[in-house]
Amino acid sequence: MSGENLETKSDLIATLVAIVGPQNLLTGDDLESYEQDWRKRTQGKSLCVVRPGSTEEVARVIRVCAAARVTIVPQGGNTGLVDGSVPDASGTQVVLSLRRMNSLRALDPQNMTITVDAGYVLQLLQEKADEAGFLFPLSLGAEGSCTIGGNLATNAGGTQVVRYGNARELCLGLEVVTAQGEVLDGLSGLRKDNTGYDLRDLFIGSEGTLGVITAATLKLYPKPVAKLTAWAGVNSLEEACQLLSMAHQFMSSSLTGFEVMNKFSLSLVDKHYPHLRVPLWEQVPWCVLIEVSDSESEEHARGLFERLLEKAFEDGLIADAIIAENIKQAQDLWHIRESITLAQVEEGFNVKHDISIPLSLMPDFVREADSAIAAAVDGVRFVNFGHLGDGNLHYNIQAPESMRGKDFVEQYEEQIGRIVYDTVGKYQGSISAEHGIGSLKIEKLTRHKSPVAVSLMHSIKKALDPMNILNPGRVIQVQSFF
Ligand code: FAD
Ligand code: MLT
Ligand code: ZN
Repeated sequence: MSGENLETKSDLIATLVAIVGPQNLLTGDDLESYEQDWRKRTQGKSLCVVRPGSTEEVARVIRVCAAARVTIVPQGGNTGLVDGSVPDASGTQVVLSLRRMNSLRALDPQNMTITVDAGYVLQLLQEKADEAGFLFPLSLGAEGSCTIGGNLATNAGGTQVVRYGNARELCLGLEVVTAQGEVLDGLSGLRKDNTGYDLRDLFIGSEGTLGVITAATLKLYPKPVAKLTAWAGVNSLEEACQLLSMAHQFMSSSLTGFEVMNKFSLSLVDKHYPHLRVPLWEQVPWCVLIEVSDSESEEHARGLFERLLEKAFEDGLIADAIIAENIKQAQDLWHIRESITLAQVEEGFNVKHDISIPLSLMPDFVREADSAIAAAVDGVRFVNFGHLGDGNLHYNIQAPESMRGKDFVEQYEEQIGRIVYDTVGKYQGSISAEHGIGSLKIEKLTRHKSPVAVSLMHSIKKALDPMNILNPGRVIQVQSFF
């Protein structure tokens, strides 16, 4: 629908109001929380924001928008980091916010599953599982506001993947509204179901481009009896990788977290949040955060840690280490790790990359990329941190001290991105480990993924959303199927 066609526009809005009620259709100039991305890089403008309260309402909204040829941007908590959840600047897209759909539909203790609406906030789900005596292990810095629908649409990772896998591995079934406004009821709690193509896995990670997730059935796990966290200083990324291998050997499936943080990333936390009192960061180039979840006892977990750290000291892998004495200390250490993203924001705009590399090649990758970028732009500062246990590094570049972040990004993002992604390709890695493609990396996908894969993705998009109604301009470049 063209922006000038006011008659059609007001007709459409009236129809949408009739579906969701006047209080759940928002228009106007104060829609920043829906129209601006979390990093404040992109400010879009929507035709309106629609907040349906049920699956049936979602289906009706999609049918009406499809009939009017108006495109839809599904949105959960709007914490995504790749510009996938906000409208473009045209003022013609409908933001479909799932946040009102936040009911717990079922909890089946025997089947160890929980079924929730898509707008259920991740942290509330963790708490609900905990109250019922279970663990829902997905955990990430945005958990206080991101939603299960968004987590599945992005196949989110986070800090527990080394043991429990990405959001995909935690999902048994989905309810999805298709681009035609039909409801696909796949809310199965089955752990085995080989009845043809796996439609669930097609929608997971599709970033709102193939269907709108309205509910999910998720796996619950036994709660560990004890959790322990240690913080260690290491002298190189090689040593961090060797320590990770040792941790796998010593802890086996009790290893639930292994994060790495370089000195500069921790210096930013120290600078912007000095009250967090970052340990060891001044003495070593890298720190690691290790978490063990034990099904026996705290003593057993502590024993595992002591043996690991003893051997690591003996082999010269760690310079210093502390084991959290209690839950509060462990939470404080995790809080430092989760504060890096915010400290980076405080420091100013930066160039962000979310890459994965085979662990055996990770140190060589970082060495090569660091030196190529330092040669290209004088004085850049490297913010390297992430989920080393998954081979996933947030390889971010902060502006030189002498330069404004915004100018730096405008001037160098493309050039630095090229160096990083070409080096990622050389080291057999991925240009997006966990944040997705959104619109930020859409051109990079075509450049760095195999033509066969891109062509198959194109065919899937065309088959499922032939009118290109759902989140156009995200994930895969489509001229238009209209
Ligand atoms: P949104 O941001 O609203 O949407 C993300 C994408 O999913 C968009 O393309 C949107 O169109 C689509 N979408 C949303 N809901 C639906 C739905 N119901 N149906 C279909 N499509 C939908 N990510 C990680 O993977 N690991 C991390 O460790 C991590 N840490 C973070 C820390 C911070 C401080 C922040 C701000 C973000 C972090 N993220 C991380 C990124 C982000 O939180 C995740 O991508 C999260 O899964 C997005 O959920 P959301 O509900 O906010 O989705
Ligand atoms: C994290 O691991 O903290 C997140 O993915 C956020 C980020 O990359 O900044
Ligand atoms: Zn991350």
